[in-house]
Amino acid sequence: LLLWCSRPAPVSLGKLVLIELEKMKRPLLPLLPWFVEKVEVDSLENDTFKFPIYHWIVDEEIHRFRECTALTVVQDDHPLAKYTRQMELQERRKQYCLSGILVTKCVAFSEYVQKHWREDAFFGYQFLNGVNPMMIQRCSKLPSNFPVTENMLYLHGARSLEEEMQKGNIFLCDYKTLDGVKANVIHDEQQYLVAPLVLLHQTPDGKLLKPIAIQQTPGEDNPIFLPSDSEYDWLLAKTFVRSAYFNEHELNIHLLCTHLLAEVFTVALLRNVPMVHPLYKLLIPHTRYTLQINLLAREKLISEDGFFTLFTSSGGAGMVNILQNSLSCLKYSSLCLPDDITERGVQSVPNYYYRDDGLRLWGIIHRFVNGVLRFYYKNDTEVEDDSELQNWIKDIYEEGFLSNQNTGIPQHFHSLSELVKFTTMVIFTCSAQHAAVNSGQFDYGGWMPNAPTTLQLPPPTKKETATEETLLNTLPDISTTVHGMAVLYLLSKQSTDFVALGQYPNERFCEEVPCRLIKYFQSELEDMHVHVKQRNKDLPLPYLYLDPKQMENSVSL
Ligand SMILES: *[C@@H]1O[C@H](CO)[C@@H](O)[C@H](O)[C@H]1NC(C)=O
Ligand SMILES: [Fe+2]
Repeated sequence: LLLWCSRPAPVSLGKLVLIELEKMKRPLLPLLPWFVEKVEVDSLENDTFKFPIYHWIVDEEIHRFRECTALTVVQDDHPLAKYTRQMELQERRKQYCLSGILVTKCVAFSEYVQKHWREDAFFGYQFLNGVNPMMIQRCSKLPSNFPVTENMLYLHGARSLEEEMQKGNIFLCDYKTLDGVKANVIHDEQQYLVAPLVLLHQTPDGKLLKPIAIQQTPGEDNPIFLPSDSEYDWLLAKTFVRSAYFNEHELNIHLLCTHLLAEVFTVALLRNVPMVHPLYKLLIPHTRYTLQINLLAREKLISEDGFFTLFTSSGGAGMVNILQNSLSCLKYSSLCLPDDITERGVQSVPNYYYRDDGLRLWGIIHRFVNGVLRFYYKNDTEVEDDSELQNWIKDIYEEGFLSNQNTGIPQHFHSLSELVKFTTMVIFTCSAQHAAVNSGQFDYGGWMPNAPTTLQLPPPTKKETATEETLLNTLPDISTTVHGMAVLYLLSKQSTDFVALGQYPNERFCEEVPCRLIKYFQSELEDMHVHVKQRNKDLPLPYLYLDPKQMENSVSL
């Protein structure tokens, strides 16, 4: 709703700092909620003052809104302005407490999965471009708890394991966050969840990534399964990994590292940064619906009668353990894609589209954030001196990361470049990273054997015992399968009022520089979309999750 007053103000107004809006109750009529988009005031001197509002007014109180020019607490020197800044944050702290692709495409994708789920190459592919592309790391030395020996392995014509490790062709996935976790009980039956170690080899010929050894749970007595084992020994071993992959992905990579982190960033922003601040204007579009969807997730997914508790092996008490383990392993560097890729040593793995698209997006977002923040902060001292900004990062460090120094999360911003990097990470996490780990859930999980939410039999402790029947009895029952598919379907669906990354329907910035930077940001995203579309044409399985046109600005699903 755009409000205007046709009469120009009769007197000179000077420079407008703020306006007050109040909804007056009319006799006998109920007070209806009022959504105000913006207010514009024309002055006698032909200046137009713009006030971005984008707020519901549901009471008879007076609400104050600032003129659109973004100002940090240091720049904002008008006494009235300073006062309203404080009042706004005081109110927000009362309200927000810190304590602790399109459907048709989805369906065609599950068909591909149904056809290929048994294949080693597809199993390997999902570590690079499936819903959890974050787990795989280069292995230059075998972990001491994984007693694989050279003579066990088939290395696709390569000479030796040592040589392949040196060349960077051996990779490891270690589900250590699931180790020792007690699996759920479903319909009075004990369920099974393992913490496997998976060794993979990048084949010299076709540049495929294939599993070469799997151990269900680290330990001397547990057999190490190999592709040369019987068909069902090997398929079952992979199935246990796929189920661990599902649970690790949903709780750690999806829930914790996108949804819950986005919530921490959002609540800390609302409590510490007023609407007139440039950081608020920059970040608030990337928090849309996040608190609402997380409230729903708490009610429907992880509550006592939620999906996770009723239908997954990680539900119940185990879930808390997994989240604690995951939080204690979480590092700032793993949230910053360029650092993460280097740390995992996966810079040169072929066909790693998550990495390629992700790094490009990181660069685009970084250029945008850098441009905007450098317009408002001229040097490091100005960053140091901004108490609102510093309170934001302090809340994130203390409340979100429990003051754990080992995470490497900044406790304070000493420089502009540190602030730019952190803010880039926030936008990347809320948009790109969430899209990468959220949008493919039904594509990969819609064919249940590829992503069983739980397993009903323990992993075999001896080889040559598994048959097709063992596999069928291990997979979840029909009720669990149907509930799993329904939830994954809903969680992968694009919402009806989707806003793509870089689209800002609410005009919060009015200065020329940030407005120009937004246009440039959008043009870079458009170029990337064209490039991704072109690249995907030549792929057997297109990688769609980091196409800028397909991803939301915020964690909203
Ligand atoms: C930072 O910029 C402000 C405003 O331009 C200036 O007053 C201040 O001296 C600068 N500080 C340093 C350390 O360069
Ligand atoms: Fe999600």
